[in-house]
Amino acid sequence: MTGTAFASGHRSFIPAPDNGRLLRDAFGRFATGVTIVTTKGRDGCVAITANSFSSVSMDPPLVLWSPARSSSRYPAFVGAQHYAIHILGAEQESLAFDVARNQAALTGDKMQLNDDGVPVIADCLARFDCTRHAVHEAGDHAIIVGQVTHAHLRDGDPLAFFGGKVTRLDIN
Ligand SMILES: Cc1cc2nc3c(=O)[nH]c(=O)nc-3n(C[C@H](O)[C@H](O)[C@H](O)COP(=O)(O)O)c2cc1C
Repeated sequence: MTGTAFASGHRSFIPAPDNGRLLRDAFGRFATGVTIVTTKGRDGCVAITANSFSSVSMDPPLVLWSPARSSSRYPAFVGAQHYAIHILGAEQESLAFDVARNQAALTGDKMQLNDDGVPVIADCLARFDCTRHAVHEAGDHAIIVGQVTHAHLRDGDPLAFFGGKVTRLDIN
C-alpha cells in the first residue's frame, strides 16, 4: 500500500485504488449531521439518508448534498425538480436507518405533502424545501444544489455521523 504509518496512529498516504478504506476513514473524520432527502417518485415517496449535506449560500439561499451513482435512488434525485432535505433530531436514529435500508420506508399516511407536492416528514430539527438549482457531476457522486424556497426549524438536539457511526448529541 502507498503510505506511511507512524507510531502515534498518524498515517499519510496518496489516495490510490488499494487504500480506499483509509481514504474513507479520513473522510469520516469530518463530523456531520444526518439528513433524509425526499422527493416524489412514480410510486410515492423516494427517500434517502444522507450526511453529505452542506449549506452553501445565503443570497440566494442554496444548499447541496451528494447522491452516489451506485445508489438505486440516484436517478430519482438527479432528475428531481423539487425535493426536501430534513435535518434529523437526536430521537430520529431509527428513521435514519430505516430509510438507508429502504427507499420506500416513508410511504404511507404519515407523510404530508409540501407546496410542491413533495412528501415531507413532520417534526424534524429543520427542513428545507428545495427547487433544483444545479446538478454537477463529481466522480462517483453528483453534487445537487438546491434553492431553498421554504425553511422550517425547531429546537432540539441533533443526530450526528462520525467515523461511520450515527450517534445522538446532547448539546442543549
Ligand atoms: C448516516 C448515513 C449517511 C449516508 N449518506 C449518504 C450520502 O450522503 N449519499 C449517498 O448517496 N448515500 C448515503 N447513504 C446511503 C444511503 O442512505 C442508502 O443506504 C443507499 O443509497 C442505498 O442504496 P440502494 O438504494 O442502492 O440500496 C448514507 C447512509 C447513512 C446510514
